[in-house]
Amino acid sequence: MKILEPVKFRNLELRNRLVWLPAVSCLADEVGFVTDPLIERHVARAKGGFGLIDVEACGVLDRKSPNLLRICDDKFIPGLKEMTDAVHAEGCKMTVQLIHYVKQSVRTGWKQAVEDLSYEDIEECKRQFIDSTIRARKAGFDGVELHVAHGYTLSSFISLLNKRTDKYGRNTEGRCRIVTEIMEGIRKEVGDDYCVGCRISGEEFVMGGNTLKQTTEIAQIFARAGMDFISVSAGGKTEDGPWYTGYSGSRCMATANLPYGCHVYLSAGIKEALREIGSDIPVVVSGKVKDLKHGEEIFEAGKADLIGICRPALADPEWITKQVEGREKEIIKCLYCNGCLVRDQKHEAVNCVIADKVAERNAAGRN
Ligand SMILES: Cc1cc2nc3c(=O)[nH]c(=O)nc-3n(C[C@H](O)[C@H](O)[C@H](O)COP(=O)(O)O)c2cc1C
Repeated sequence: MKILEPVKFRNLELRNRLVWLPAVSCLADEVGFVTDPLIERHVARAKGGFGLIDVEACGVLDRKSPNLLRICDDKFIPGLKEMTDAVHAEGCKMTVQLIHYVKQSVRTGWKQAVEDLSYEDIEECKRQFIDSTIRARKAGFDGVELHVAHGYTLSSFISLLNKRTDKYGRNTEGRCRIVTEIMEGIRKEVGDDYCVGCRISGEEFVMGGNTLKQTTEIAQIFARAGMDFISVSAGGKTEDGPWYTGYSGSRCMATANLPYGCHVYLSAGIKEALREIGSDIPVVVSGKVKDLKHGEEIFEAGKADLIGICRPALADPEWITKQVEGREKEIIKCLYCNGCLVRDQKHEAVNCVIADKVAERNAAGRN
């Protein structure tokens, strides 16, 4: 299979094209430090054969959010370094997703709007992304992914829902400005030989929000700004319900009723737009990729360069090796029930509920 062969882009040499997508784990401690269970989680997926692990959203700012992994201060570097060392020892590369979020109230649903952010706030946000990238490099990450997807700060800027009338709004170029300025700042400080990509929602699935019409243009702007890869997610907005509960949320963590590969058209559309401007930066597909064969079909059809898998490998860290070794029947299968997401919403350790049941049954069988 071609997706199992090595690939190189920027400073990243991957042993294959399989990416474990970011998934908030709630395994960081209450301050945001790496813990042993978090390291074990990633080592298990590295042993399980992924070429790249893109670590869960990691806070670039010090604002309350329970058990969120953080990179907003140098004090977090040693723990993160321990994690990247452990994953590298298994032959797997590791990037980290950098997240900034506006002030919000989980209880009432109130959320600060990007229209309310002053130039001072914007400068601070840009600085936080740049400083965190410098820290990520020191912590041994092979690259960073700017979180420009779902309902967070950068994604709210690039959305058509951003009604700013100044240079950070008005048109697509303006709405993308904060991200392109962050890129500029990062390149100035870490140089060209460090992998910096982003994750966007290919469609936002809310009224008046971005569709492929906007995101293809955004992808072109980002590629021109020097982005090394674009990971394509979907939805995740909060305009139609609290975090990941509305329709947009159900597209993000694509629910059981949606077909396999429901968002392949998004990575395909973005690849197409990048081809138009002569850009060959890798595009990551996500959303119910069924198995390796399915991933290979997506790649062979030129609809994505890297194959992103999240929940199936949360359910079974050996999702890849069991397929490679013809042990498919042993796979603990993700049913896309989103029990993991419910745990995330309760700030409990984000494990697969099915895998837990299997473990319980096995333990009972042994007793
Ligand atoms: C519990 C949970 C936490 C997630 N956390 C993140 C995150 O931190 N950042 C992100 O971009 N996506 C996050 N996602 C979305 C996944 O990366 C992925 O896009 C989605 O689950 C679809 O892929 P899948 O069908 O292979 O699971 C999360 C998904 C789940 C279920």
